[in-house]
Formats: sequence, structure tokens, C-alpha cells
Amino acid sequence: MVGADDAHDADPATYDRHRELKRFDDSKAGVKGLADSGVARLPRFFLRPPEDIAADRPGPGPGPAAPAALEIPVIDLGSLAAGGRPAAVARVLEAAREVGFFQVVNHGIPEGVLAGVLAAGRAFHELPAEVKAGYYSREAGRRVKFTSNFDLYESKHANWRDTMFCVMGPEPLDPLELPPVCRDMMMEYSKQVKALGNTLFELLSEALGLKPDHLVKMDCAKGHALLCHYYPACPEPDLTMGTTKHSDPDFLTILLQDHIGGLQIYYRDQWVDVPPVAGALVVNIGDLLQLISNDIFKSVWHRVLASHVGPRLSVACFFTLHLYPTTRTYGPIKEILSEDGPALYREISLREFVTYYDSKGLDGTSALTHFRLAK
Ligand code: OGA
Ligand code: NI
Repeated sequence: MVGADDAHDADPATYDRHRELKRFDDSKAGVKGLADSGVARLPRFFLRPPEDIAADRPGPGPGPAAPAALEIPVIDLGSLAAGGRPAAVARVLEAAREVGFFQVVNHGIPEGVLAGVLAAGRAFHELPAEVKAGYYSREAGRRVKFTSNFDLYESKHANWRDTMFCVMGPEPLDPLELPPVCRDMMMEYSKQVKALGNTLFELLSEALGLKPDHLVKMDCAKGHALLCHYYPACPEPDLTMGTTKHSDPDFLTILLQDHIGGLQIYYRDQWVDVPPVAGALVVNIGDLLQLISNDIFKSVWHRVLASHVGPRLSVACFFTLHLYPTTRTYGPIKEILSEDGPALYREISLREFVTYYDSKGLDGTSALTHFRLAK
């Protein structure tokens, strides 16, 4: 394991980055393993390059951070059946078009289930290292796996985050594939978050002026994966990131974050906090929904800051047909195109999209640019 003292000022003449990454990967203990070993300084491969840090401040020179430019919209889904639907659709349209992120409350998932799945994610990540190592993998086709930094070997720097990844649908996952400590809660949350996903796709369809079932009929809600993230307390949070800025490679993400905070979105040239709201879920538009909505909905950059405070837990539900061998292609929805608003993207297969996104890693660029039609 990388020692505490030789970390980040290792002699550049002898530093072998690949060897260090491999050693970290082979430990199968993730970032939590490093944190538990008591490192006081970060291994060098976690350090953000200076140009990344400089890009945090758009203005000239150091100075106080600019005040937040907006508050992330909070949308109440509690009265959809009682006449509140048109107002909710209007708010979803406004948020998805302008911000790409919103929070939902009164969404129907009981607080006990939210707390339960966060606790289950924590219980998994806090299993004895030797038990957890059994789940560690980078195999593309595995439905349940624990990985630290899916793009470890491609990215500019590693993130201070570990993830347990589970493909829950469309083919039902055999619960026995899930680690026993989180099995029941993951299955329960999966069922409930899928139902909420359906509701959101209906509202988003209506927001585009389409029939409520349009996006569901396009199979946008057909598959989903759960990602239980664990961000240990970090000894040098200013030098790395919990999650590098990225947009999501799916149709839609429903994110459950705990009370710690650190999630930010990039809005009008500023990083804006997505504050934890008790009982709420964060919803964001993914790249594929931006593509099929022909840029009406925005898939925006977001990131998670590392922190001295931790662990921070979050559970992301990605609506996508990740490992499913669908041959369906996706392009801008014909019904929303016009002479003034022609298609901005070509038709793509999901495989093509995921292959490109993964080959790129979280490098701070948008995968969508690659599929955009020339003007
Ligand atoms: C993601 C993501 C944010 C978080 O999983 O894509 O952005 O708060 N997660 O963990
Ligand atoms: Ni994300």
C-alpha cells in the first residue's frame, strides 16, 4: 500500500503512475482502504492537476466565491392526482430546460426506505475488507460489483470515492447476487425508485407536449442500475475531488444523498450547491434525454467535493439499458422537431454511446458533442 509519508511528493524521476494505480486497484480495498490505513497525505494519483483547480474560479485571481446564482427547484409531487398535475408538469419543464436538476418531495417513497437504503449502502462499504474484496471487479459485464473509480486508468486523477454498482433491470436481478447486508433494502428501494422513475418520465413526456407514456414507450424507464457511492472523510479535500465534473450517461438519474452535502452543479459559469433536503430526491436529466429531447432538456455538469467530513453516502439510480442487448436506436424525437428546430443529433445505439462515454472517462468534456450533427 502507498505509504503515508511518501505520498504526493514522490520523486517525479522515479514515479511510476501506472504501477501506483495498479497497486491501489490490486488492493481491492478502494479509497476506504486508504482512509482506514490512516493516510495523512494523498497518493499522487488523486491530485487534481493545477489547471483543473484554476478553472474553479472563472474570475481573475483569488477572491470570495460568488454568491449562489440560483436555488435548485424543489417540486412537490404530492398532489398529482388531485389537480396538481399541470402545475407539476410546468415546473418540471422549467427545471429540466433551464437547470437540468431539481429535487422532488412527496414522491411516495417513505423516509424509512430512504434511510434504509443509505444504511444498507453504508453497511456494504463498511464490511470487513476481505469480504468486500470478493465483490471487487472491473468486468464490464458483471451485474453486481464493487469498484473504486470505474475510470481509474483513463482519468486525469482518481476520485475520493468507492462505488457498489448493481444492474437491477430490465432482466430482474436474482437477489442472491446482492451482498446479504444490503440485499433486502436494495430490492425494496429498486422497486420503489423504478415506480417513481415511471412517474417522472410521464411528467417529462407531458413537458415535451407528448402523450404521458411516450418516453416509457421508448424504453427510457425499461432498465435501471443502482450505484451506492461511499465518500470517506478525506485528509486533503482541497487537492482532489469526490467526483470529477461530469454529466450522466443515462436518460435520467434519481439521486438520494445523505445530509452531508458536497454535490454541486455548473450553472451559468458557477458551481452551485445542491443542498441536502430531508426526505427529498434529486432528479437530473442525463445525456440521452438531452439527445432525444433535442436539447430542450439539459444534461448538466455536476461534481461532488471531497470533504474532511465523512463518510458521505449517496445512492444514484441510473435509468438506462446499460448491459441490455437492445438494438433500438435513439435520436431526437420526431414529434418535437420542426423546420426551425431541426435534429441536432444523429441516431445512435446505446452501445455506441456507452462505449464512447467509458473510453473517455470523467475527463470534464461532454460525450454529447461527439454525436452532434455539424451545423
Ligand atoms: C453520479 C453522481 C452524485 C453523488 O452517480 O453520477 O453524480 O452525490 N453522484 O454521489
Ligand atoms: Ni452524476
